[in-house]
Amino acid sequence: MKKITSLIIIALSLAIFFNGKKYDELVISRLDMSVAVCLEGQDCGKATPIMAVVANDNVVRSADIIYSSGCAACHDAGVAGAPMTGNKSQWKSRQAKGYETLVNSVWNGMNGMPAKGLCIDCTKEEIEIAVQYMLDVI
Ligand code: HEC
Repeated sequence: MKKITSLIIIALSLAIFFNGKKYDELVISRLDMSVAVCLEGQDCGKATPIMAVVANDNVVRSADIIYSSGCAACHDAGVAGAPMTGNKSQWKSRQAKGYETLVNSVWNGMNGMPAKGLCIDCTKEEIEIAVQYMLDVI
């Protein structure tokens, strides 16, 4: 008896939920919303204009943004033998190689450090900024 009651409840719930429509029709009707979006500055007609967010490739990110988005993951705690940021003795021999060499190590990758130090979209200039940032704190 319990089984039959549950089946009836399930069948009724489905009937109420789909309201006689097939599942596909229901999904299509929900996707077909009359909302239009167009970018500000264009001929929008009835649509609501929204601000266009344009990625500006020429914007160079700041040192702490670059550092915290990639480098910090390893250099804060010394993961995989990475010289820890701010640790003078760990950086002494690195510093002796010269700034250019250090930048190239990051750009090309070095043993446990992947190329660009995990900052995949970093430009060479941004890598330089991050290296300088790390050298500045030791
Ligand atoms: C996945 C971990 C990891 C990330 C992320 C990472 N590093 Fe490294 N880094 C290392 C390791 C490990 C070494 C030491 C490599 C060696 O000496 O074999 C290293 C070494 C370095 C060195 C010294 C290179 C040399 O020639 O001695 C610099 C400079 C450096 N990292 C800067 C950065 C910068 C800047 C970033 C971010 C853009 C970064 N790292 C991101 C792991 C990482």
